Amino acid sequence: MRYSITYRSGFNAELERQSLIAGLLAPNAAISPKYFYDELGSLLYLAICRLPEYYLTRTEASIFTQNREAITGAIGTGKQLVDLGAGDCRKAAEWFHFLKPSRYFAVDIAEAHLEHSLGRLAEEFPDTEIVGIVMDIATGLQLDGDLGTQPATFFYPGSSIGNFAPGSALQLLGQIRTHCHAPGSGLLIGVDAKKDAARLNAAYADPLGVTASFNLNILNHINRLIGSDFDLNNFRHIGFYNESMGRVEMHLEARTDCVVRIADSNREFAAGERIHTENSYKYARHEFESLLQQAGFTTIQCWQDNVQDFCVFYAA
Ligand SMILES: C[S@@+](CC[C@H](N)C(=O)[O-])C[C@H]1O[C@@H](n2cnc3c(N)ncnc32)[C@H](O)[C@@H]1O
Repeated sequence: MRYSITYRSGFNAELERQSLIAGLLAPNAAISPKYFYDELGSLLYLAICRLPEYYLTRTEASIFTQNREAITGAIGTGKQLVDLGAGDCRKAAEWFHFLKPSRYFAVDIAEAHLEHSLGRLAEEFPDTEIVGIVMDIATGLQLDGDLGTQPATFFYPGSSIGNFAPGSALQLLGQIRTHCHAPGSGLLIGVDAKKDAARLNAAYADPLGVTASFNLNILNHINRLIGSDFDLNNFRHIGFYNESMGRVEMHLEARTDCVVRIADSNREFAAGERIHTENSYKYARHEFESLLQQAGFTTIQCWQDNVQDFCVFYAA
């Protein structure tokens, strides 16, 4: 078994804590979606991917499967594979046979889940060098000392780019582009398309309540991180498509007036008040192509499913 994990410096736990607390005490309370992924949250995300209403994972997988040869042809083989927000690493692992990566970097903020995923992957691919990097990509993609001069393929599936507002998404794409200096480098990215509000609403508020559990679980994680005393019974999941903003929003809404102890403060939530936990921006194909161009990519290819629910881009 050959894998290693490195921790990016620059992470300041006290600053993270202060910013979390400030977000919760603000008049429009918010929690960054990066806090969804404690151990249980990572498992609940995998369950969401299996929901009939959550078409994203299934559709992306079918685009990959149906276009394996063309995508492999565009990328080439034997490059370093850099998996951003790698999660369980399964999506990248399915490319190993085709892309034959010289090295695999799994980048994720969820340390425990990453460690577990890499242990399994290293058993499956004992001849591939596997490196985990624990990093918050929202605070900057610091990979300068890692990639060297070899070409790199960045992999960012699952429409995770949608968690960033378009300006921040452009910034992140620009940083990826900067790391693509070696000829033959590029970015393979999955992006959810704008569509009928009813389907988006169903995808983010399923009748089984798995997405609701995923959303509520963020409060358990926060309680452990900052010692707050959120009672999950006092909040309910809200997920809907905000068409004018082109994004799905997730919130936790207070069911009743309640008081939560946060650091040294008592934060009062009025019944109906919401904590904003996630945005998932959706893009028409031409909108995302334009973002990739603005980020400095010059060759852009796109593959879609029959009903154009989802886009897979390779940008170099
Ligand atoms: C929606 S899951 C996607 C997992 C996998 N790539 C897939 O498509 O199935 C998002 C992953 O990104 C990670 N993540 C979320 N925010 C992050 C951040 N700011 N920096 C690094 N990783 C992050 C989470 O821990 C989680 O594993």
